[in-house]
Amino acid sequence: MASTDVYIDEATGQDADTAQGTEQAPYKTLQYAFFQEKPNARYLIRKTADEEKDAAPNAESSLPQGYKAAAKAALKKVTNALDQHKKKAAKQDELDRKKKLEDAEREKVFEAAKNIKITEDTTLPAPVKIRLDEQDPAKITLQSADSKGTRVRVVGRVHRERKQKDLIFLTLRDGYGLMQCVLSGSLAKTYDAITLTRETAMELLGEMKELPAGAHAPLNRELQVDFFRIIGKAVGGDDAITNRVAEKGDAQTLLDNRHLLLRGEKASAVLLVRDAIESAFHQTYREHRCRKVSPPALVQTQVEGGATLFKFDYYGEQAYLTQSSQLYLETCLPSLGDVYCIEKSFRAEKSLTRRHLSEYTHIEAELDFITFDDLLTHLEAVMCRVIDLVLADPTTARLITDLNPGFAAPARPFLRMRYADAIAWLVEHEIVNDEGAPHSFGDDIAEAAERRMTDIIGRPIFLTHFPTEIKAFYMQRAADDPRVTESVDCLMPGVGEIVGGSMRMWDYAELMDAYKREGIAPEPYYWYTDQRRYGSTPHGGYGLGLERFLAWLCGLHTVREACLYPRYMGRCKP
Ligand code: 4AD
Repeated sequence: MASTDVYIDEATGQDADTAQGTEQAPYKTLQYAFFQEKPNARYLIRKTADEEKDAAPNAESSLPQGYKAAAKAALKKVTNALDQHKKKAAKQDELDRKKKLEDAEREKVFEAAKNIKITEDTTLPAPVKIRLDEQDPAKITLQSADSKGTRVRVVGRVHRERKQKDLIFLTLRDGYGLMQCVLSGSLAKTYDAITLTRETAMELLGEMKELPAGAHAPLNRELQVDFFRIIGKAVGGDDAITNRVAEKGDAQTLLDNRHLLLRGEKASAVLLVRDAIESAFHQTYREHRCRKVSPPALVQTQVEGGATLFKFDYYGEQAYLTQSSQLYLETCLPSLGDVYCIEKSFRAEKSLTRRHLSEYTHIEAELDFITFDDLLTHLEAVMCRVIDLVLADPTTARLITDLNPGFAAPARPFLRMRYADAIAWLVEHEIVNDEGAPHSFGDDIAEAAERRMTDIIGRPIFLTHFPTEIKAFYMQRAADDPRVTESVDCLMPGVGEIVGGSMRMWDYAELMDAYKREGIAPEPYYWYTDQRRYGSTPHGGYGLGLERFLAWLCGLHTVREACLYPRYMGRCKP
């Protein structure tokens, strides 16, 4: 049989349906041409113009200009490639065929499962509704060799699930605890059961049982389910929660998906400890007879310097988000006695550190008719009482131990150290300032140096008596050294400063001088200044950053993990 010439022009040809392998419409590559598997083909190739220039003149003069028969080696290469291609295609076909069969099989199982209907057995005892952490033996008994278990009704979301041959083990989560629930028999064969996804919300009824020997499950018990109902299915496949918030996911993606991350064990544990801490502060302040007030968040005065003010237009006037409720707390003393608040404070921090947020929860208190020493004693008592209260609750204590295994309540009294002594300590330990020079009196001890000092000392420190120049305008000068203020920062290992406080300037003339020194216009502060005109007293207070306190207690790397939805430079969502 005569051969058919197949033309390949490496410069102008096309590997596409528009090409036919003719001289007028050549292919571009030998491989493509070869893969067309034309019978009895002779492959003629014209190289690119440059290669052609260097090539020897065409010996096979019968061929059109520039064309040459494909070399043997080249033909061998494409023959092998075609073989490989066919083998691969056959393999893929086999896989596709298998998948189709499996899909059909699964579809059949699904269809059959859809026909399995379950109903609640109304002859069983009426269930008792419980939260997943409930254990009161007067309410719940576990089925054992010689007694029946309580029939309960629980609701929650699927935290984990494990399918075994005829059983489905699922761990239900309701925010109070976890419970292992076992689906067996026809329950495990329903469509809902075999397509169960994590985070699906459901209701389950069944008998509480002791665990078989050697098995492990939360609170050493399990629910032998006799009926269940899906309340809200969770999406699966690519959108499954485990794909949205992968364990080692990138930090920004995890923050974008914080609404889902919060369902995880660590994030929820931190929030539970946070709830316990806030509650302990409320209790402690009650015990100290401090009254709770709620100062405004929209203000027209600064407290901690203009550099971190969030400014906004308030009906045509300049206003700010509050940096601290301190000034307002001071105005409450004459009518309410000692006061406190737990409110948001806002700081336009232009740096991304692990202890700075743009919005944080500020626990602030203000005490009347006190000395600086009274202030320090009160602060230590409040902090220690809060720690004692949270550790006294076994659930919170366990969460803290899980999060921060080495945590122990700090020894009292806290170390008290004057700023001037801290400077000497830093010099002695060769810890330099931000300019790389030895520290000297008047330096604002930078975050890194402060942290190193705190970590080396390894216990809470009350750092006191900071120079006037590096502290806020309202701080009272020390009677024994007018260069310094009656101020305190509480420093904690691992975090650094978690509290800032001071005695307040209570003399009218001195405060007016302080406004002048700091370049603050006194007019907007008339209500603050008035406190010095209507029965002024020595008083003082402090602010504690809840997220920093939590980061210290739970051993968190950053305060961002201590918030529900952190706000910091560059992030204002979700
Ligand atoms: O030291 P600061 O700025 O003090 C005050 O605002 C006083 N007016 C409080 C008072 O006396 N009532 O802030 C107090 C504490 C800090 O020690 C720190 O724990 C926290 O508030 N804090 C921050 N926490 C997170 N992110 C920030 N950007 C913070 N700035 C301050």
